[in-house]
Amino acid sequence: MNKKQSISTLTALAVATTMAFGANSTGLKDNMPFKLGVAVSNAQINDIANGRKTQALDLIKRNFNQVVAENAMKDQPLQPIEGHFDFDAADAFVDWSNKNGMKTMGHVLLWHSQLPGWFTRGDNGELCSREKLLDRMENHIKTVVTHFKGRVAGWDVVNEAVEGDGSYRRSDFYKILGEEFIDYAFKFAHEADPDCELWYNDYGNESAKKNETIASIVRRLKSKGMRIDGVGLQTHIRIDSPSIESYENAINLFVAEGVKVAITEMDISVLPSAWGLTAEVSTKVEYREKLNPWPDGNLPPEVDKQLGERYAEWFRMFRRHAASIDRVTVWGLSDSSSWLNDFPVPGRTDYPLLVTRDMKLKPWTKSL
Ligand code: XIL
Repeated sequence: MNKKQSISTLTALAVATTMAFGANSTGLKDNMPFKLGVAVSNAQINDIANGRKTQALDLIKRNFNQVVAENAMKDQPLQPIEGHFDFDAADAFVDWSNKNGMKTMGHVLLWHSQLPGWFTRGDNGELCSREKLLDRMENHIKTVVTHFKGRVAGWDVVNEAVEGDGSYRRSDFYKILGEEFIDYAFKFAHEADPDCELWYNDYGNESAKKNETIASIVRRLKSKGMRIDGVGLQTHIRIDSPSIESYENAINLFVAEGVKVAITEMDISVLPSAWGLTAEVSTKVEYREKLNPWPDGNLPPEVDKQLGERYAEWFRMFRRHAASIDRVTVWGLSDSSSWLNDFPVPGRTDYPLLVTRDMKLKPWTKSL
């Protein structure tokens, strides 16, 4: 081997080594034309806060370049009692994700669930006044957005304000302020951090009527000269429904309004459903054995294959829209930590995510 040859061999070796062991070049995220994200559970955030090194945290760092807290940055945990903010867990999480160079998203500023009772109600449970709610919204949103300024790239400002039939959800926010509660939320968030991305987020985007109303919200905010960066599609879907086309239509519709889109909470349930596609967290269905066909943690290979193919089809669609898609985020790391094990039926064994119960990437993730 002459000198030139041995240098190029060395260079090739160095490149190969970097590809095999480099912190940023070995995981699923490296094969994606958009950011690949994951929701981080309270248990995982607790490990982060206590400086524990775990297999789950390693898997997250290797395979994902975007994160969001599954629960820790909702209204209830951040301001459980009016005027008492608790940022400890969220701070540990955000510092960790920033240190590891992952895009950190905030979820969520205003949502009718995991909302402490004091936010919209008086001492006797009656709806509070318009002025009181605006005051509380402004205080919560500005305190939280300011606290994470420069550390969180963007926020889900409003979550789930629209029903499947295209009407506005009769949440307390809506009952007190009408649809303009959305506009106020975006205004307060923007005033607190003008550089922060502001998103509207919802489930059930197979409904064209729901999507029309969301598009009209985007138009309304834009016509007032207000900032809205994008629409998040939660994408809690099932192995047999909805159609990919219905979500592709949603993406096209929102992009035509001049905003970006993101897939924000993807999971694919393989279990039987008698309640359709709702992701409304208050839905409750009683446990029955029939609803839990694979309780021992082993999914029959043919069902796993079908699941892999369904994921691959959806990712092929996402790739076609890569120029408009900011990120694709899965709602949890492994099957064992998925919220779907307890939603809407408690105590089931679902298989909706990319990592198995024994913490291995499912083999078909290579084809995404
Ligand atoms: C879910 C969490 O995953 C659960 O742990 C929690 O008990 C309820 O909320 N839509 C959303 C998410 O926007 O915040 C919800 O997360 C799932 C539906």
